[in-house]
Amino acid sequence: MNLALITEISRLTPTSSVSKTAEATLAGLTAAPRYLPSWLFYDAAGSRLFEQITELPEYYLTRTEREIFRANADAMIAAAARECDELSVVELGAGSASKTLLLLKALAARQPSSLYLPIDVSDAALHMAARNVRSALPTVRVQPIRADITHAEHFNLPENGRRLALYIGSSIGNFDPDEAVELLCWLRTQLQPGDALLLGTDMVKDEPTLHAAYNDRAGVTAAFNKNMLTRLNRELGAEFSLDRFRHRALWNGERSRMEMHLFSTERQMVRIAALDRGFTFAAGESIHTENSYKFTPDSIAAMFSRSGFALEQSWYDEANWFGVHLARVVDAMAEPTEDGAAA
Ligand code: AVJ
Repeated sequence: MNLALITEISRLTPTSSVSKTAEATLAGLTAAPRYLPSWLFYDAAGSRLFEQITELPEYYLTRTEREIFRANADAMIAAAARECDELSVVELGAGSASKTLLLLKALAARQPSSLYLPIDVSDAALHMAARNVRSALPTVRVQPIRADITHAEHFNLPENGRRLALYIGSSIGNFDPDEAVELLCWLRTQLQPGDALLLGTDMVKDEPTLHAAYNDRAGVTAAFNKNMLTRLNRELGAEFSLDRFRHRALWNGERSRMEMHLFSTERQMVRIAALDRGFTFAAGESIHTENSYKFTPDSIAAMFSRSGFALEQSWYDEANWFGVHLARVVDAMAEPTEDGAAA
């Protein structure tokens, strides 16, 4: 695919990825408690490790969501399009678009032609999404857009026609509740009243199942987590020793989230050349690298109503482990009541 065909939406002052990494690392390692932002996972090696995670026996999320799409793609597209709308599909964080293909197939069966706009920060992901869709579905036009949805101002979405936005894979779970609402409010400004959103969310479930999904026996999630340190060693001349940090994912029931941590196995000092300083870690001290929020029907309803979307329908697997929700952009924001439900 021709690179020039990717529409790029950059920020006003593009910062190099290394200085962005340095900035984020300095902010996170000088905070108390320490953290590193989860977007640092996704360099080339990290993206490959994540693909491996999605195939682990313990990591039920991808498999379960795919089954929900397989069983309900036609109903989802029909509900999103209502009677006579022509839909175009905009996907936030497209990845390889393998689950999206199930929806696009249902769309292609309904319309003679359609437009698919995958949005991702990664060129590699956009290429893969475009290649997969073009080869499987020749009547679907693909217009990839390179953008970071957490920093983007405006997308050049097609002016007319009904849009269906996709944000699947429970990526929304990486954001704190207020940030998630902020992201959905921004998405709403990019859409028109009547446009639809399909949102995938991982649900609260028994703790052993959650624990196993993020502490897999093969150690792929541990490697994924530690890859962040490898990345800092390479990009910032950091001197993290991988066997002096231990991967651990913990359930935080109060905040309804899985937390990924890297615990220092001993007291140590780690130099980071690009920051021209060292960081001392106490034995057992954590670097918090990710939150993965788990939802309930109530928390989903509250999130939509705070964001100007009306929840229309939800689809679940048999065990209610994962949900896919269809929400509509409403005309005016309903006044939220005390408990966050729409008035
Ligand atoms: C891509 C954010 C949905 O939270 O389950 C997988 C990332 N982290 N294993 C998730 C992840 C550890 C994943 N998301």
